[in-house]
Amino acid sequence: MGGMDWRPYIDAHAADWVAVRHELHRIPEIRFEEHQTSARIQAFLQDRGIPLTAGHARGTGVAAEIPGQGPGRLLLRADIDALEIEEQTGLPYASTRPGLMHACGHDGHTACLLGAAQTLWEHRDQIPVSVRCIFQPGEEEAAGGRLIVEEGLLDDVDACFALHGWPSLPTGDIQIGGGPVMASADFFHIEIHGKGGHAADPGACVDPVLAAAHLITALQSLASRELSPWESGVVSVTRMEGGTTSNIIPDCAVVEGTVRALDPAVRDRLLASIERVAKGQAETFRAKAKVVFGTNGYPPTINDHAASAYAARIGEGVFGAEHVHGLDHPYMTAEDFSYYLQRRPGTFAFLGVAPGPGEPYPGLHTPRYDFSDASLPGAVHYFCSLVSNWSSGALENSKA
Ligand code: NI
Repeated sequence: MGGMDWRPYIDAHAADWVAVRHELHRIPEIRFEEHQTSARIQAFLQDRGIPLTAGHARGTGVAAEIPGQGPGRLLLRADIDALEIEEQTGLPYASTRPGLMHACGHDGHTACLLGAAQTLWEHRDQIPVSVRCIFQPGEEEAAGGRLIVEEGLLDDVDACFALHGWPSLPTGDIQIGGGPVMASADFFHIEIHGKGGHAADPGACVDPVLAAAHLITALQSLASRELSPWESGVVSVTRMEGGTTSNIIPDCAVVEGTVRALDPAVRDRLLASIERVAKGQAETFRAKAKVVFGTNGYPPTINDHAASAYAARIGEGVFGAEHVHGLDHPYMTAEDFSYYLQRRPGTFAFLGVAPGPGEPYPGLHTPRYDFSDASLPGAVHYFCSLVSNWSSGALENSKA
C-alpha cells in the first residue's frame, strides 16, 4: 500500500479542485461566518458520497470521515476562513465581497484537503488507516482550533497534519521541522487610570500619560533583560491612546500590544512580567494599571519530532529530497493548529507557492496574495502519501 502511486489520479482531477478553490476564493467569509464556504465543502463531500459531520466549532466546521483498512486514524486539517482586506489581485476569480478576501490562502488549503478527501475516499479499500479531514473555521484570531480540540475530535486520532502556503518558498518545495515552528501570540490591553485636570496644575492631577510613556519604555526591558540570550520572545507595543487636547491632563491612557514566544514557559513569564511592570510603573506615578489579555491567545506551534521526521520522509517521496527543507528558524507569527499539537503528535508544514526560487511573491495578509494553483497537486499528493504510508509504528520507526 505504501508504494501507491497517487499521481495519475491527482493529475486527472486537479483541475476540478482548482475550480473549487476559485469558487471559494470568490466568496470569502470571516471567522465563524463561513456559512457559504461550509455549505460548498459539504456539497463537495456529499456529491462524492463521503461521510461527514457538520456544525463543528460554533457551526461552520466540517469533518469528513474516511474509513481505512486497518486500525487507527489520522487527522488532516485545513482552515477555511478569510480576512478583512480589500482584494487587489485583479484576478478573474477575485473576491466578490467588498472588504473581504482570502489573503491567507485558506481557500487553497481547503481545496487541497477536498482533493485529498476525494482521492482517499475513492481508494478507501487500499488505505491502511482511517482519516478524519477537518475543515476548520475561525483560524484568524478566533482560535477555532481550540474548539475542535474541545469537541474531542482529536481524542481518537493517532497523529495530525496540516500545511500552509508559504510565499518565501518556491512551488514544489516544502519546509518541515520538529520542535517549535511558530510562536505563541497574546494581546494585551493596559488602562492606566490617573486623575485628570488642568494641564497647568499637574500637582492636583495624577498624569496617566507620563505613566504610559514610562511603561512603554519599561516594556522594552522584558525581551532584553528578563530573557536569556537563548530564549526567544517579542513584546511589541502597537497602540497608545490618551487625552483629548493640549491643555487637559486626562483621567486615563491606554497601551496595547502583542507578545510572542516559542516556549510555553517563556510565554507565561512574559505575560506575568507585563502585568508586574504595568502595575509597578503606574504605582511609581501614583496611577493604577488594569491589565487585560485577549481571550484568544495562541500557544506556540510545536511539531512532534518523530511525526516531523515521518512527514519529511513522505515529503521526499512526493517533492524530491532536494525540495524538502528544515526550518532555518521558527516563524514569529502564530497558528491555531498549535492546539491540535498540544493534544496529539503531528506536524505543521510550509508549502512553497512562489513561482521560482528567490522570486518575490505577495506576502500573507496582503491585498495581492493568492494561493498558487500550481502547488495544489503536490499538497494533495503529500496528504495522501502521509496516509498510505502510515503504520501503527510509524512514529516509533521515525525516532532518530
Ligand atoms: Ni493562514
